[in-house]
Amino acid sequence: MLPQPAQTNLLTVVADLGDAVAAGPLLAELGQAVLTLTAGTDARLLGLPPGDLTVTIGVGPRLVRTIDPSLPGAADLPQFSRERIAPQARGGDLLIQICASDALVVPIVAAALLDQAGDRIHERWRQSGRRGSNVPVAQGLTAPRNLLGFIDGIVGPRTTVEEQRDLWLAGPAPVASGTIAVLRRMELDLPRFATLSVADQEAVFGRRRATGIPLSGGTIASDPELGAKTPDGRYLIPADAHVRRAHSNVVGVGLMLRRSYSIDEPAPGLLFMSFQNDIRTFTNTLTHMDNSDALLQFTTTTASATFLILPGFDEQHPLGATLFR
Ligand code: HEM
Repeated sequence: MLPQPAQTNLLTVVADLGDAVAAGPLLAELGQAVLTLTAGTDARLLGLPPGDLTVTIGVGPRLVRTIDPSLPGAADLPQFSRERIAPQARGGDLLIQICASDALVVPIVAAALLDQAGDRIHERWRQSGRRGSNVPVAQGLTAPRNLLGFIDGIVGPRTTVEEQRDLWLAGPAPVASGTIAVLRRMELDLPRFATLSVADQEAVFGRRRATGIPLSGGTIASDPELGAKTPDGRYLIPADAHVRRAHSNVVGVGLMLRRSYSIDEPAPGLLFMSFQNDIRTFTNTLTHMDNSDALLQFTTTTASATFLILPGFDEQHPLGATLFR
């Protein structure tokens, strides 16, 4: 289960495996290190309490294809519009994602895991992120604001039924109860967005900036009513509003769990992160947004990757053992 609310601090490291490196033993070792780090029994924590530390490990499409090209997670992400992605910031074999409320725990855990992997992996890119204060959305659900001032992370799979349907992989056996992660680092044009009136900013998203309530009314937890119109026949949620273009019913896909982090390096923006059990939930949504979503003109994507998040593990069932020997 993912901790709710998400921890304030994040670091993701994306790396490649060296040519002759066997993924199985490497993953098992990393998993073992994650167990001692999260338990607080690892000397490499230098005495720091791990608190709510979580480490999420994912394997990239190239490694999944070596097992079976028909497995979920075997497909690379295609290119989309408004990308400016350096070759080393596209794709990758290994995701190490570290989240913790204590900002100091994050780099210490990263150093320990990278030391564990040693020269078996070659780092491609890394990204730190932060989340602002949480705003209550519904019973047991909060979401932070992003750098455009809007509450981000409201809609997603929330019930166990929705999580089973849209978030966790049901199979095949080697990947069952894992999920597919998408990472997109998106620069945001803050100065240009700030020149818009509040009403125009709200039209970009289709929600109120102060409260997160959809422009069709209700509460922050209400589903946007896409058919609602003004007396003179205009949509309350504009045709190009982000919540319309990205709406799962409009796109015809399942719900994605979005847990994005705001970033200020290398430029202000968002490390968009979504988890879903079908990569088409992401790709079809972004295809539907491309060129017609009012939000996209304020974004430039500078890193992009997808990973199979491996099923849970413990001392008896090493990380990655269902997939790699
Ligand atoms: C920097 C870029 C982005 C920003 C700042 C952003 C922000 C937001 C905000 C504020 C909302 C409304 C509140 C909520 O439901 O969380 C939202 C909704 C949503 N966004 Fe994004 N988003 C970005 C990019 C993306 C991308 C790349 C995708 C997927 C391809 C996406 C998918 C969604 C979905 C599925 C919803 C829920 C729509 C609904 O059913 O109401 N977003 N986003």
